[in-house]
Amino acid sequence: MITVQSLGRTFVGSVTGVALETITPEQFAQVEAAFHQHAVLVFRGQRLSDEGQLRFSRMFGPLQKRSNYARDRERLTSDEMMDISNIDADGKLFPPDARQRAMNMGDRLWHTDGTFQQIPSLISLLYAHEVAPEGGNTEFADMRAAYDALSPERKAEYEPLVLEHDLFRSREQVGFQEFNPDVRALRPPAKQVLVRRHERTGRRSLYLASHATRVVGRGLEEGRALLQQLIEEATRPEFVHAHPWQPGDLVMWDNRCTMHRARPFDDLRHRRVMQRTTVIDTENSVDRALREGRSLLLEEELSRV
Ligand code: OGA
Ligand code: MN
Repeated sequence: MITVQSLGRTFVGSVTGVALETITPEQFAQVEAAFHQHAVLVFRGQRLSDEGQLRFSRMFGPLQKRSNYARDRERLTSDEMMDISNIDADGKLFPPDARQRAMNMGDRLWHTDGTFQQIPSLISLLYAHEVAPEGGNTEFADMRAAYDALSPERKAEYEPLVLEHDLFRSREQVGFQEFNPDVRALRPPAKQVLVRRHERTGRRSLYLASHATRVVGRGLEEGRALLQQLIEEATRPEFVHAHPWQPGDLVMWDNRCTMHRARPFDDLRHRRVMQRTTVIDTENSVDRALREGRSLLLEEELSRV
């Protein structure tokens, strides 16, 4: 029998009584309901093959493919499986100056996955093969609770706002300096709403990430100050849950209504081997909000005034 217990914070549920490798449709229905009630689910003691993780993930929808996938140089053989590890294709730890290591540092800032894509990431599923002996937690923040805690005036102020997100904004903040125009051109910025309404539950949340570069219609400085303030407020201890990893943990989160960040560990000495599958959304969040009849502050409207 499947049981779900809240882990301190009500938005994180710990699920027992299901082997994800062989999950049945009936069990899946229960897991899906629990997922939408919470927003983060933790499954411990799993024994998942890559195929099993892919199969379970696909039950939630189509998976995101890696854009820069090079089968001959990758440790993982599926272009739908992302390597969130500190080892290369030969199983060796990344050296201090590895490009991928610098790139991964951006995950230590509060973010939600894929907001810099036109079609963002919906659900991420991260499975731990090997964990660091110390450090390396992942922290989660409840963006529904952060939204609910705002005053009615602030909710009204934020409702029409649109943000521009750029992967290189979060990377720039950790000192990553490869701003090669060819690389950047592969990942142009994307616009997303600031207040996101969940299609399944109807609940609103703050849709924020360290990838956010600017608030559309506001000056750069003013916009960035607002983004920083909102991220700070939304990640107050009362909204945050830390997950200490064990091998065999699968943690899945809803990118629509949570943020997360990786905590440091001694990555030059210890292996941390994690694999992520990612369910992709069907539509850009600005397009969806407009289709639902919301009025948003888009650049074009401002210049018309
Ligand atoms: C991710 C991520 C955090 C971590 O996989 O999207 O941000 O702790 N991971 O590895
Ligand atoms: Mn992430």
